[in-house]
Amino acid sequence: MLSLLPWKQKLAVDVGTATCHISVQDAGLLVREPMVIAFETERHRPIAYGSEAKQMLDREVSDVEVLRPIESGVVADFDATVTLLRYFLHQALGHRPLFAPTVVTAEPTEATQVERRALVNALKTAGAGEVIAVPRALAAAVGAGLPMDQPECRLVVDMGAGATDIGIVSMGMIAAGKTLRFGGDDLDEAIRRYVKRNYRISIGRARAEDVKIMAGALSPEMVAEQMRLSDLDEIGTSGSDHRKLEGIADLLRQSLMPTASETLWILDSLPEKQLDEIIQVESMLTGGCAQLRGITGLLSDELALTMTAAPDPMSCTILGLEAILNDLEALSLDGRRFTR
Ligand SMILES: Nc1ncnc2c1ncn2[C@@H]1O[C@H](COP(=O)(O)OP(=O)(O)OP(=O)(O)O)[C@@H](O)[C@H]1O
Ligand SMILES: [Mg+2]
Repeated sequence: MLSLLPWKQKLAVDVGTATCHISVQDAGLLVREPMVIAFETERHRPIAYGSEAKQMLDREVSDVEVLRPIESGVVADFDATVTLLRYFLHQALGHRPLFAPTVVTAEPTEATQVERRALVNALKTAGAGEVIAVPRALAAAVGAGLPMDQPECRLVVDMGAGATDIGIVSMGMIAAGKTLRFGGDDLDEAIRRYVKRNYRISIGRARAEDVKIMAGALSPEMVAEQMRLSDLDEIGTSGSDHRKLEGIADLLRQSLMPTASETLWILDSLPEKQLDEIIQVESMLTGGCAQLRGITGLLSDELALTMTAAPDPMSCTILGLEAILNDLEALSLDGRRFTR
């Protein structure tokens, strides 16, 4: 199965809800693009991919449909996913390869058969040959530098745009794990609704994400930049309203509580010895949401352990997939265990 032809190219592909990363073995990271595609309406023809298509999001351009084909970490629009991946694979390889490349990818830690098949089939239809899927929590743990050869349990939480993968890592595998359909997109949506309900201002998803990144924090004193309603102006209704935008810290805190509870639920189901092991060392937070100010403090308090953000958290999954690609012999046949 894993006996690879030496002349076949090998790729690591992280198909995220927000971003697609592609690394080519011996060449490194060649694609880091938003998972966004724009079609002429009626889907006659794709007209923009990646960052170019992202600029069209939230702008009502007539006769153009802009979509994000991955939702909550899973393939939501198969055909659009294939079209986008085909374009990105071509970008990475620069030509049509003689042999379909072998791809290592990351799937939800708790994937259904249907979700797993959709991702693998999308990659194959887009031009991949053999596709090896590893659990996202495992890829993130490898990318964050957690040891893969030790029996002591470690907690990793990967919080991206559409999903949160929680994993207990021991001996290079996920001993217990869960995928929540919750991520940064849901925080954006919570902000959008909050601004509408409290200030009667309609903002798009992209502007809500700006608010989260610029002014988002889990406690008011951590806010880097105090936003005013006039800063939210998109349609010209609040341009002269200089009141402060308040309450975002409480909103984010409330929105993240279910994730903390789910993680606690997994921790509480572990034998006491494993829980002790986890508490004694740093737990790792990866994914873009790890950059939210105060999130590690909130999770540390709620879970009664030490949660640390991985360096370059948005790259952990692709870095983990790259490391696995470079050491495929250390990956079990089913892709669920990586020991090196
Ligand atoms: N500085 C920041 N502060 C808060 N959130 C951020 C920051 N930078 C990025 N994010 C958020 O991180 C998320 C993207 O993270 P990431 O790239 O890990 O997602 P993804 O891998 O594409 O999605 P998923 O793994 O859920 O399918 C977005 O919701 C984005 O708004
Ligand atoms: Mg991700």
